[in-house]
Amino acid sequence: MENLSTPSTSNDSVGNVSVDEIRKDFPIFDRPADNRLVYLDSGASSQRPRQVLEAMDRYYSTTHANVHRGVYRIAEEATRLYEQARVELGEFIGAPNPEREIVFTKNATEALNLVSQGLGRKILTKDSAIVLTEMEHHANLVPWMILKEQIGFEIRYIPFDSQGILDLTDLDRLLDGASILGVTMIGNVLGTINPVADLARAAHSAGALLVADGAQHVPHMPTNVEELGIDLMALTGHKMLGPTGIGALWAKESILDLMMPFLGGGDMIEDVRLGGYSPNVIPYKFEAGTPPIAEAIGLGEAVRYLKGIGMENIHQHDHVLVEYAMMRIAERFGSTIKIHGPQDPALRGGLLSIEMEGVHPHDLSQVLDEYDVCVRAGHHCAKPLMKKLGVGATARASFYLYNDTKDVDALIEALAKAQAFFA
Ligand code: ALA
Repeated sequence: MENLSTPSTSNDSVGNVSVDEIRKDFPIFDRPADNRLVYLDSGASSQRPRQVLEAMDRYYSTTHANVHRGVYRIAEEATRLYEQARVELGEFIGAPNPEREIVFTKNATEALNLVSQGLGRKILTKDSAIVLTEMEHHANLVPWMILKEQIGFEIRYIPFDSQGILDLTDLDRLLDGASILGVTMIGNVLGTINPVADLARAAHSAGALLVADGAQHVPHMPTNVEELGIDLMALTGHKMLGPTGIGALWAKESILDLMMPFLGGGDMIEDVRLGGYSPNVIPYKFEAGTPPIAEAIGLGEAVRYLKGIGMENIHQHDHVLVEYAMMRIAERFGSTIKIHGPQDPALRGGLLSIEMEGVHPHDLSQVLDEYDVCVRAGHHCAKPLMKKLGVGATARASFYLYNDTKDVDALIEALAKAQAFFA
């Protein structure tokens, strides 16, 4: 089918850098202008710039060896690069002690499983309570449900209102006696930017720890764990221009020291005897086996790239696109398209879950794909939230630094084609 975006000399920019320039760094966008890829699914996984690909290729081509083991030069260089990535990531999120507080994991999901099994098993009993929200991704629900099956405790939920905003009216009661408050920093379906600093203060007053799911926040907004008062935070690399297979848990040193190892094996031990083992120091205590070395190096490069553009600039850019998209959808489609979540764009991250009257989100997504517009359709791994919205699925457009208003225009045109097709 026809491609709906037209070549143009858009003034869209992220800070001082034009989106057209940014797109040149991303090989996937290297297509003829009349065949533009309108990639609006960075909430599921971002694209990656050549700088990240080249850093990983350079490592594999010149330096690959296992880390923390060999004493020959390339092994030492591999260890240096891996540890440098840890420090860069830690500094990026304001970790007070990056060398000790960043644990590399496979993704944010694994980081949250590490929290539930490593910390939850240590501090929760059958008489405990934890508080989550109704807008959590399965990654911040199911690990706690699994642990609840193992030891038993109460899970309470903070509801959200008709605007997709957390209703904190009952927060003190919910937190009474709770040990943990787990919250997504930006909802992956509703796009709501949650008041993490306020929640952290409330949690601490009640004697609870604040566990943050930063998967949608860290790639899109300045994130400083110390300023926000977070105690533990999960993130993932592939949503922030890095490779798949790498994520991290950041937690305060004292908490990591307290936590039990989750995966056992090589590298995570200080000593092993037939009668038992002694764990390594943090963060290695949680990194069993050969880690994702190239992926960590790629993530470190992604962090450098994001810092070069500036996280406040990226946040502002997301905001401009969301505001523009909401305005154009309202103008063009009126009440035939519903946008879930806050209606004030200032309260949202860079994503929009939409529902077109009479059209199933999967059908919608398939028709949009005919116009090279990529959006995610489904329950977005947030089934309890979907149930509350009263829908089985939504179509979600999510923006990033390589999108511009031409992409939004292409989305609007493709939505109009889809609406006409299903009329
Ligand atoms: N968690 C990712 C999403 O929301 C996969 O799409």
